[in-house]
Amino acid sequence: KARTVLLATEKAFAADAVSKIEAVTSAAGYKLVRLENYKSKDDLLKAVADADAMIIRSDKVDQAVLDKAAKLKIVVRAGAGYDNIDLKATEGKGVVSMNTPGQNANAVAELVFGMMITSARNNYDGTSGFELVNRSIAFYGFGAVARAVHKLAQGFGMKSFAYDPYIPAAKIAEMGATPVATVAGLFEHQYVSLHVPLTDETKASINKALLMKMPKGGTLINTARCEVVHEADMVEVFKARQDFCYLCDVAPDDKAAKEAMTAAVGDKFGKRLIFTAKKMGAQTLEANDNCGVAAANQIVAFFEKGETRFALKA
Ligand code: 3PG
Repeated sequence: KARTVLLATEKAFAADAVSKIEAVTSAAGYKLVRLENYKSKDDLLKAVADADAMIIRSDKVDQAVLDKAAKLKIVVRAGAGYDNIDLKATEGKGVVSMNTPGQNANAVAELVFGMMITSARNNYDGTSGFELVNRSIAFYGFGAVARAVHKLAQGFGMKSFAYDPYIPAAKIAEMGATPVATVAGLFEHQYVSLHVPLTDETKASINKALLMKMPKGGTLINTARCEVVHEADMVEVFKARQDFCYLCDVAPDDKAAKEAMTAAVGDKFGKRLIFTAKKMGAQTLEANDNCGVAAANQIVAFFEKGETRFALKA
């Protein structure tokens, strides 16, 4: 019987990307089942019963999903961050998990600049703003997305700084950014852009002490995960500093936290505080294609050749 690949995306890919994913699976003789824009976890629990493989985005794969997934061998997160997969649970069931690192990096980088310019030009309200040239941007984490932002920053004539506990300072310098020795050291720069995964170490780690250190016009950019920011501290910083800005495409899920932040700004939405309607750094045709096709190819290579290059560990 042909293998079944379930495409389970609560936030759907562009239609063109889905056609390309289907071209890869059907060339391998596999059947692609689409569960897009689904509204309840029950839909996912039902659909997963027949799946040999799964392609997901931020969709949660936890013990409840795995309990229903009798045939599942592999789940590929079409994207970078995999905090939505319970890796202990997948490992416990012998299911291989993968991500597709780097495939949506450029899309996120372009969004970072979109938000920076919107804020620097006062949400296009006609008043005098400022230019990005010669300003400093510091990266917390220097993986694929940060490097893509850095490349654009170089084009804008900005100065880049970076801290990444897993990358030697010499390598950061080689890539044209100035290495910074500590997380706190990043917050001496006007822009700090977060590119760390959500882990026990990073959760709520961006707190008041760090944010209050930022120079005038200090701006935090978060295209990583909302949970990395200490939300209650952020509200206090907005109240304490009229110059502080927060630009993010990962607004708190919690409505009350969102409202508290918006109220604390007391300023026109779009200059000091930018939230997008949904997490949308990876919402481009190109990123959907890149991530989706990479995921489909990784599934085929896994079944046909035992390829596990992008396998994740708990
Ligand atoms: C990622 O980790 O790849 C990005 O945050 C994109 O996530 P999404 O697929 O939910 O848009």
